[in-house]
Amino acid sequence: MLTRAQRDIIKATVPLLETGGEALTTHFYKMMLGEYPEVRPLFNQAHQASGAQPRALANSVLMYARNIDRLEALGPLAAQIVNKHVALQVQPEHYPIVGACLLRAIREVLGEAIATDAVIDAWGAAYQQLADLLIGAERAVYDELAAAPDGWRAARAFRVARKAPESAEITSFYLEPVDGGAVVDFRPGQYLGLRLVIDGNEVRRNYSLSAAPNGRGYRISVKREPGGVVSNYLHDSVAEGDTLEVFPPAGSFTLAESARPAVFISGGVGITPTLAMAEAALRQGDRPVVFIHYARNAHVHAFGGTLAKWAADYPQLRHYLVYETPAEAGSGSQPDAIGRLDVGQLRSWLPGAGVDAYFLGPKPFMAAVDDALREIGVPDAQRRYEFFGPAEALRDAANDGVARAQAG
Ligand SMILES: Cc1cc2nc3c(=O)[nH]c(=O)nc-3n(C[C@H](O)[C@H](O)[C@H](O)COP(=O)(O)OP(=O)(O)OC[C@H]3O[C@@H](n4cnc5c(N)ncnc54)[C@H](O)[C@@H]3O)c2cc1C
Ligand code: HEM
Repeated sequence: MLTRAQRDIIKATVPLLETGGEALTTHFYKMMLGEYPEVRPLFNQAHQASGAQPRALANSVLMYARNIDRLEALGPLAAQIVNKHVALQVQPEHYPIVGACLLRAIREVLGEAIATDAVIDAWGAAYQQLADLLIGAERAVYDELAAAPDGWRAARAFRVARKAPESAEITSFYLEPVDGGAVVDFRPGQYLGLRLVIDGNEVRRNYSLSAAPNGRGYRISVKREPGGVVSNYLHDSVAEGDTLEVFPPAGSFTLAESARPAVFISGGVGITPTLAMAEAALRQGDRPVVFIHYARNAHVHAFGGTLAKWAADYPQLRHYLVYETPAEAGSGSQPDAIGRLDVGQLRSWLPGAGVDAYFLGPKPFMAAVDDALREIGVPDAQRRYEFFGPAEALRDAANDGVARAQAG
């Protein structure tokens, strides 16, 4: 429990963190990843290089410091962190490592004059309070996943039952448990964690579940990223019959309970969670569903066949396809439009502003979708999104990263 004096110190440190928060966490990551090889596999090096992960942590520390008197304000952010942590299997024994590095980084970045023993003690107590909150919430999720019918704890071996190319750069992997058992249902929109050893190095990545739950196995669909460690390994070195280590499903970007028309808008591989969500929404019966997908061109356009089949099976579905560049003669699907996202076009495809919208794609695409939906009048609480990486602000200029990330 923090003392009154410690709370005052934390609140007084907020302005310092606001100007130096990111430098602090960058320093912290360098120290932690350099000195503690046991936590290295959990962190995606590309997210460190881009600064996105240090920014996400800095944002959460700031948010925490601002709300030290009313931790319940952290609610949605805490849930988001817990989900990320669970999907990568962060464990209680990792917390002291992060705590020790954070405090050392505070001392080194702020200097002895500002980071007095009293300041460090206050931050130590504050970190412990936040760590206890997250450890408790994560334990509850791990226990729930282990206790759920056909659930499990930590890694479970899955065989790649089928590998199916979906486009020039996206391939689906159908995964079935090696133990022959069933698999826990997931909430459409959730993702799995994979643990792999590539060239002797352990790495972990998340992949969205791209088909509705069936109780027997899961499907993930992976885009080959130029220079990407795991996606290229999955495409090139993992064959049907091979085994992968899989962590149970997690994630808070899920279909909200609602009878409002559901709208899914995706760019590129961002289509994956929206496929599982749309399938679940279509199975709700007569709920109107609008599925809008943007792809660069016909070669990289994935799941056209799935949409065509759904359109035949579900009269409540309307679907639209946009290519950035025109389709070549003879290529499969003909797009409904060519070019970039356009508000007028989106408005004409939506059944009004009273919809639940879910969107995912590259960050500039998501910012454009969010702007367009806002202009159309879709309320904040009904515009939901997620990032295929650390949560970020949709618009760099706006200092609303944490607040908006909560909507995801
Ligand atoms: C919740 C969630 C769901 C996801 N769902 C999906 C999904 O359904 N399908 C999917 O395909 N992906 C999904 N992803 C993304 C996925 O987890 C991986 O991030 C993606 O496959 C890239 O991983 P990689 O190992 O291939 O690339 P990485 O090795 O992580 O590299 C990514 C990019 O960064 C560059 N890079 C790497 N290291 C550095 C460095 N040190 N400096 C500069 N640049 C560097 C690489 O060249 C590459 O372009 C999801 C992510 C999250 C968080
Ligand atoms: C109080 C302590 C902690 C806080 C406040 C915190 C906060 C965060 C935040 C805000 C994110 C980003 C969430 C998102 O993108 O949506 C994150 C991701 C992550 N955290 Fe933590 N975290 C803490 C402790 C830990 C510990 C102990 C570990 C394990 C060593 C850990 C490992 C990770 C990993 C691996 C990710 C994902 C990184 C990536 O995307 O590359 N965190 N955390």
